[in-house]
Amino acid sequence: MLTDEQKEQIEIENKAISKNIHNIRHRILVFSGKGGVGKTTVSVNLAYGLRIKGYRTGLLDADVTGPDVPKMLGLTGEMHVHERRIVPHICHDLKVVSIASLLQPDQPVIWRGPMRSKVLHQFLGDVEWGKLDYLVADLPPGTGDEIISLTQKMEPDLAIIVTTPQEISLIDSARAINMARKMNVPRIAVIENMSGLICPVCATHIDLFGTGGGEKQAELMGVSFLGRLPIDIEARKMADNGKPVILENINSDISVALASIVDNIEEMLNERHQSTTKQ
Ligand SMILES: Nc1ncnc2c1ncn2[C@@H]1O[C@H](COP(=O)(O)OP(=O)(O)OP(=O)(O)O)[C@@H](O)[C@H]1O
Ligand SMILES: [Mg+2]
Repeated sequence: MLTDEQKEQIEIENKAISKNIHNIRHRILVFSGKGGVGKTTVSVNLAYGLRIKGYRTGLLDADVTGPDVPKMLGLTGEMHVHERRIVPHICHDLKVVSIASLLQPDQPVIWRGPMRSKVLHQFLGDVEWGKLDYLVADLPPGTGDEIISLTQKMEPDLAIIVTTPQEISLIDSARAINMARKMNVPRIAVIENMSGLICPVCATHIDLFGTGGGEKQAELMGVSFLGRLPIDIEARKMADNGKPVILENINSDISVALASIVDNIEEMLNERHQSTTKQ
């Protein structure tokens, strides 16, 4: 049973979130059933892909226990708080918020679900996001507590499920798709990552984990397919050095594939935006 004071706190929090998110035209969640399939890689590069097209974009690192976004952006230093509002980092013109920017390096976050949810609510309501065209949230793997609660509060218009082509990842991606469906996210789409490897020495195409499974899965489950990304060894090295591939090498195969996915997202959401305004 909640006390009156707790109820009042929740109401204040909800009002702050509602005010903030309604200044953000499109809110995108990046899910996966399984860990390590490339959610953070996809989130970071899609956010920059949107920024390159001129959209005001924010990136929310919603993986509280494994916040990898700052590492992939080479972002260091703390976020500032101004008049009790969190000020996002600005990294190559992208607004970025991560709990890693509030912690010491290597400091673990040993919080249970409700605490993790609470900090994510703060990242929605207490951050000075300002007016944005897109906010991309990089989620932790799975279908845990804080994912449910963030989805409810953020009211996303698109859930992107990242999967690799192997059977084991596809099975888990079906769970993530069903979760997004249960949470009434209006648009759900799949990206197949690590889809084939071009040998950097002889340029032969190697089907390391197979290809095409993500598209089949999307078709089977009646959701959209946004595209596939190859395994790119250079992109991995760049990520380790805090340099998103889409900024570093726009002409690489993976960047071209990412740009085409950005176009698909733009088209998908603008369509929706138009059909909403036409009603
Ligand atoms: N297409 C790709 N080509 C090469 N390396 C990739 C590709 N996609 C992801 N990686 C690498 O795989 C590793 C895992 O990727 P990433 O951290 O993006 O996955 P994740 O789904 O966010 O993981 P977690 O579930 O732990 O949050 C990283 O080292 C990343 O650089
Ligand atoms: Mg991640």
